[in-house]
Amino acid sequence: MKEREIRIFYKEYLNVNEMPEADRIITEEAVVAASGAYAPYSHFMVGAAILLDDGTIVRGANVENAAFPSGSCAEKTALSYSVSNYPGRKPVTIAIAALSGKKLTRKPVPPCGNCRQMLVEEEQRQGNPIKVILAGSEKILVIDSAEALMPLRFTKSNLG
Ligand code: THU
Repeated sequence: MKEREIRIFYKEYLNVNEMPEADRIITEEAVVAASGAYAPYSHFMVGAAILLDDGTIVRGANVENAAFPSGSCAEKTALSYSVSNYPGRKPVTIAIAALSGKKLTRKPVPPCGNCRQMLVEEEQRQGNPIKVILAGSEKILVIDSAEALMPLRFTKSNLG
């Protein structure tokens, strides 16, 4: 038997003004994206903004549904839009933010497991790390790749 360890590294900023300009801009875009959410059930409005390698910014928000599983997370909305509409472009960064009662949440918003799974597959397909920015009003976390957020994940190599 061997015991193994998986560690992840991330940066923590106190606010957007401490961040490099490109990261600050995409983080602010995620906050704007959150205002487009349709979240009448949870009242938790999430926004995701994806920066593509040609500088294009794609926004997405969560879209809920009375049949709960039919809804979509903000990250999935944004990623589906960028994959469908910018097939030749690689995502470089995704920033995620959420509004609760019209205010940016204090805690950074982490993507759910499903969205992590989708982000990693896109990252691997493009052969390019996707930086993940999790924004909150008390701190902002920056992880250099989606893969780091999903160790021991299921991938196409597991299909045989
Ligand atoms: N949600 C997202 O859009 N992204 C996340 O990373 C976490 C959760 C949405 C789904 C649902 O509409 C609401 O937030 C509450 O879970």
